[in-house]
Amino acid sequence: MDRITGKVKFAIIGCGRISYRHIEAIQENNDAQLVALCDLNLERANEMNGTAHVKVYEDYREMFSAEDIDVACIMTPSGMHAEHAIDIITSYRKHIVLEKPMCLRVSDGLKLIDTARSVGVRLFIVHQNRFNKAIQKIKTAIDNDLIGRIAMATVRIRWSRGQSYYDRDPWRGTWALDGGALTNQAIHHIDLLRWLTGAIKSLSAVAKTQFVNVAVEDTACAWLKFKNGALGAIEATTATRPLNKDLEASISILGENGTVIVEGAAVNKLTLWTFDDTDTREFSEDPPNVYGFGHNHIIDNVVDVLKNGGEPLVSGEDAIESIKLLSALYRSIEEDGREVSLKDDPVSGRLGVIDAATEKIANLYRTDAVMRSRKK
Ligand SMILES: NC(=O)c1ccc[n+]([C@@H]2O[C@H](COP(=O)([O-])OP(=O)(O)OC[C@H]3O[C@@H](n4cnc5c(N)ncnc54)[C@H](O)[C@@H]3O)[C@@H](O)[C@H]2O)c1
Repeated sequence: MDRITGKVKFAIIGCGRISYRHIEAIQENNDAQLVALCDLNLERANEMNGTAHVKVYEDYREMFSAEDIDVACIMTPSGMHAEHAIDIITSYRKHIVLEKPMCLRVSDGLKLIDTARSVGVRLFIVHQNRFNKAIQKIKTAIDNDLIGRIAMATVRIRWSRGQSYYDRDPWRGTWALDGGALTNQAIHHIDLLRWLTGAIKSLSAVAKTQFVNVAVEDTACAWLKFKNGALGAIEATTATRPLNKDLEASISILGENGTVIVEGAAVNKLTLWTFDDTDTREFSEDPPNVYGFGHNHIIDNVVDVLKNGGEPLVSGEDAIESIKLLSALYRSIEEDGREVSLKDDPVSGRLGVIDAATEKIANLYRTDAVMRSRKK
């Protein structure tokens, strides 16, 4: 595709909880322009348009026909990501910024990667925590072999989501369109663990739904064996009480040359660094919520790649590895904690499966189905 010479023109599809971070990041880049917002629920789009003052659409097909747009930022329900992105790539040939998790089924993600490649558009996946100052410091240290052989790498997520969170939208808490604490919340930290420590050979996981009435898990734990010999652990829950306080999202890496620990509610505070006399406060941030500041890095990267060339900071090919890991975790959970090998491509039997029973929920988010039902 030709490089873009003027401003890179963005549209947002899905004006829910996370959309304001994309709007802010686009507005904060001088070479980016927000052109339109789209949501099947026009009220939500209008609400988000409070600071944006752009055109608002309920049907993205109309939006792409009417507006000059380079990039579609998709933040619809997780189980619809791949379907929406593939439709927008094939029908309208747009570059895609896709919220985490990039898809729920590995097969859908691979199809999306192939589609983007064959049409010649770029895919940018939002794993914004990779750009936290503390995480970047660990990544550089690992790449420069400062930490040495890793004995153990651990992530711990102790966030809080109550019943009202799941009741807010029909897709939440379903296997078909959301997944549980591992998929919706801990995917950030699962991605970090893999990105920092390396590929995983095998794992075992267990999960339960403790304090809410939903199909998916609110609590899970897993142990992992990395290909490089390290051991790992994941502790992930949204069942922390009292409600509505995200307590902790942390990572510890114990290497032969020393230890690094990042804590805070959003892996945002470097609290232990034993390799030199680094002032840990310089690598600690105070974001207003667990979304952090990383969306700016993603949008800045989109603009840079489309104007100047280069590669996405988080490509589809990279992010799909975290979905493979997620799928393996669920497969082990579905088999009562059996150790599963990643080389066998273990697949969850229920995450992202849209069947006759869940088709109705998916149709709430399919533009053609929604528009047809509104015309009746
Ligand atoms: N990176 C992060 O930190 C972060 C944080 C929150 C959410 N997310 C991800 O963003 C996605 C959305 O989450 P949310 O909490 O904002 O959800 P949400 O339910 O608040 O918003 C989703 C919006 O998408 C709209 N939508 C659905 N299908 C559509 C379609 N075909 N056309 C136009 N609009 C459509 C819905 O009407 C809804 O308003 C999820 O995949 C979630 O995992 C990421």
